[in-house]
Amino acid sequence: MQLKSIGFIFLVACCAFSGCFPSTPEPEPESDPDTEDGSDSVVASPLVADCALCHSVKEAQRGPILHGMDEWYLADQIEKFRSGTRGQNPANRSEYLMGVAVKKIIDDEQGRVLAKWFAAQQPMPAIRTVRGDVEKGALLYAARCASCHGEKGEGKRERVSPSLTHLEGWYFIDQMRKFRNGMRGKDPSDVGGQAMAAAVADFTPQQTKDVVAYAVEAFGLPEAPSTRRPLRPRPLDRNGSRE
Ligand code: HEC
Ligand code: HEC
Repeated sequence: MQLKSIGFIFLVACCAFSGCFPSTPEPEPESDPDTEDGSDSVVASPLVADCALCHSVKEAQRGPILHGMDEWYLADQIEKFRSGTRGQNPANRSEYLMGVAVKKIIDDEQGRVLAKWFAAQQPMPAIRTVRGDVEKGALLYAARCASCHGEKGEGKRERVSPSLTHLEGWYFIDQMRKFRNGMRGKDPSDVGGQAMAAAVADFTPQQTKDVVAYAVEAFGLPEAPSTRRPLRPRPLDRNGSRE
């Protein structure tokens, strides 16, 4: 498999859906999706280009950065989208988009290959859109998150709790909101999602901002350079989040 031929040059500006998430400038180098150690055990699926229409840091990015996420978690979530546990509720617009996109993955093996590929990629810099009280957030994190996600957000596979170190602020807070309002973690078959939803059910919007601001600051992705274009899906509130 010629890995280098799968370039990360995507010319398609996929803005078919209203509004765009903030995007970051092109990280470099982006032309070599191969693993750093030259390992050839990670196979680049031809589907990577499809995924990257939404999962990249391009202008028209719709989905979260997947680079560097836990392989097991990626595989789990792809499976949840494929089985319809996630992505079937049209009211959950962004998730529904992914519910359509996942149809490109026609078998389990393709899903596994993609999970492995994204997990092997270098993390990308991100924009920290969330502001909150990081001191309060630190206390909340220690008391309410660390038992499942680890002291430093490293994740605990035995608790099916993913690492939180590869989440952009906007996606992080968006998912917290979805767990709280029943858009994620409601499906009876979604054991992990239900555990997570229950864990944050009583959080106020302010507590959510505080804990996310802390997590992004303490162990999140490096801040993206400030040359980004100020593209926003909708105006941010005065605390800088879309909550
Ligand atoms: C049309 C845009 C689009 C395409 C194409 C797309 N996705 Fe997604 N994906 C999304 C969005 C949006 C989300 C976030 C869903 C949400 O907000 O709950 C998402 C979420 C995910 C998640 C869950 C991440 C998490 O942290 O829970 C995984 C895994 C994923 N996508 C994998 C893929 C793979 C693999 C492909 C290629 C086969 C792909 N996606 C193609 C839009 C897309
Ligand atoms: C009881 C264990 C538990 C606790 C406590 C918990 N979580 Fe989770 N969390 C999970 C599990 C399990 C998942 C995976 C859900 C899935 O499979 O869809 C998850 C998923 C998430 C996700 C989604 C990640 C993604 O890529 O989409 C975020 C964000 C998150 N947790 C943040 C937090 C924060 C912040 C706290 C503390 C306020 C917290 N969690 C407390 C178990 C927990």
